[in-house]
Amino acid sequence: MERIETDVLVIGSGIAGLVLAKLVAPRARVTVVTKKDDTESSTNLAQGGIAAVVDPADSLASHVEDTLTAGDGLCDRRAVEVMVEEGPELVRRLVDWGARFSRTPDGAAFELGMEGGHSRRRIVHSQDRTGREVERALVTSVRQEPSVSIVEHHLAVSLRVTGRGRGRRAVGAIVLDDAAGRLAAYDARVTVLATGGIGRCYLHTTNPAIATGDGIAMAYRIGAQVADLEFVQFHPTMFYAPDRPESFLISEAVRGEGAVLVTQAGREFMDAYHPRGCLAPRDIVARAIALEMQKSGDPCVLLDATRLGGDFFRRRFPFIAERCLAAGLDPARVPIPVVPAAHYSCGGVRVDLHARTNVAGLYATGEVSSTGVHGANRLASNSLLEALVWSRRAAADIAARLPGIPSGGFEEPDREFAVGPDPDPFPVAELLLEVRKTLWEDVGILRSDVGLSRAVLRIGRVLRKAEERMHRGRLWPELVTLRNVAQVALLVARSARMRKESRGLHHNADHPEKDDANWKRATVIA
Ligand code: FAD
Ligand code: SIN
Repeated sequence: MERIETDVLVIGSGIAGLVLAKLVAPRARVTVVTKKDDTESSTNLAQGGIAAVVDPADSLASHVEDTLTAGDGLCDRRAVEVMVEEGPELVRRLVDWGARFSRTPDGAAFELGMEGGHSRRRIVHSQDRTGREVERALVTSVRQEPSVSIVEHHLAVSLRVTGRGRGRRAVGAIVLDDAAGRLAAYDARVTVLATGGIGRCYLHTTNPAIATGDGIAMAYRIGAQVADLEFVQFHPTMFYAPDRPESFLISEAVRGEGAVLVTQAGREFMDAYHPRGCLAPRDIVARAIALEMQKSGDPCVLLDATRLGGDFFRRRFPFIAERCLAAGLDPARVPIPVVPAAHYSCGGVRVDLHARTNVAGLYATGEVSSTGVHGANRLASNSLLEALVWSRRAAADIAARLPGIPSGGFEEPDREFAVGPDPDPFPVAELLLEVRKTLWEDVGILRSDVGLSRAVLRIGRVLRKAEERMHRGRLWPELVTLRNVAQVALLVARSARMRKESRGLHHNADHPEKDDANWKRATVIA
């Protein structure tokens, strides 16, 4: 197996991986492996923007309180304070690195958006394609760093550890070079997971194809703790197309500018669910839509943005306008059909305030991680912010510790793996669909004890099949993905089954109340 030595191996090239690479570059050799093109990430699709206190009339305390309220009693207050305090400076760093955000007409300040759960406008954005601008700026900037190499179409398959007990540490990863069709050993002093989310474990999602939970699955397999995985956030408003092919998000910022949710019969309903109506925290809006769809039997609800005016809509949301028009609908004239879809994982690989996991030498940052910031429900546009802050903290910690971390220790696996599809047929696509459907139906917005137990059983069976097939000694990308998706789906279903209450994004009809006495804590699996 080819061996590539580096100081810091970063897995993933979204905002989390790129910011970390950029900041650690002056102190170390960094290799970023990424499984598709460098820009293919959830980051690239982000619409609404980055929540940050940049307006002198805003306050850190207000952003902290809004985050804690959305998190429904489970946020780690210290982590939230760190994110809110350190975030604004990092937004300015993004500007230094080339990101262009929308500004007020006189150019003097950022134009700020509004989203659910925020008590005031504080979302820095680039029209409705914030993520694309951030990703563009970061890829360009990181590619100028001589000590960083970005290696595309390289799929990390498994993490490697060395030593035992207190001496156990992560030393890199086995990576599949897609083009060459062979495995390589990336031997690193520090390994960073920046692999993003898990949306593709669900049948319907806003997430891109890369979001298959690889980092969580790989970390869990080497004994890293994972936490709060039951808190999967469903975005209330994905564009509804009857057969739901590759769909697209309708940003919450559209509601922030005054669009309202109505049933197909034209009834506004959000005021009956929350005093903030359509701008309530996301868990409440998504659940209200699910309940309204259940009551009416309709396959979607409508987002009426006609009152915003065509000129304003096209200027503020050019991408959404273009996608709607391409789908045959003019949002200036006709309400947009929308449905909730799996969007964001609040839980993940458990980390401390420096992005360190419980495995020495292994860091996790961005959506793959669980920092304690989001609690039971993430506040809109806090994800890019969290990634910025934890990537900087990880970079500082790595730079400080690196001189004391030895190189070497990487041992290749005892057995050889052949690469390429098995000549003996294996129904990867059907099994993947089974997992994604099961999670959607039984571990969705509305859950029950029976459904959760059924999901654990069904997904467990698929995972065993994928593992057995892998143990035959042959792997290929689709099989690696199936195993990861099934592993993560099982962890999500198990976490949801453990939590015997309803809180934030986790709503179980058999335990409909919040139970602070027993459940005001994280669900941790190792
Ligand atoms: P990603 O950006 O997803 O990057 C993950 C990277 O890891 C990718 O490069 C991927 O190829 C790579 N990777 C994964 N597995 C492997 C592997 N096994 N081997 C090698 N590489 C691997 N949040 C906000 O705060 N504001 C918003 O406005 C917003 N809008 C959103 C809109 C949409 C449609 C979506 C899907 C999400 C949105 N979010 C938003 C959430 C936010 O975009 C993500 O949480 C965030 O971008 C995650 O960044 P990341 O770097 O952790 O992961
Ligand atoms: C959106 O634009 O609605 C997505 C924002 C987010 O996920 O934080």
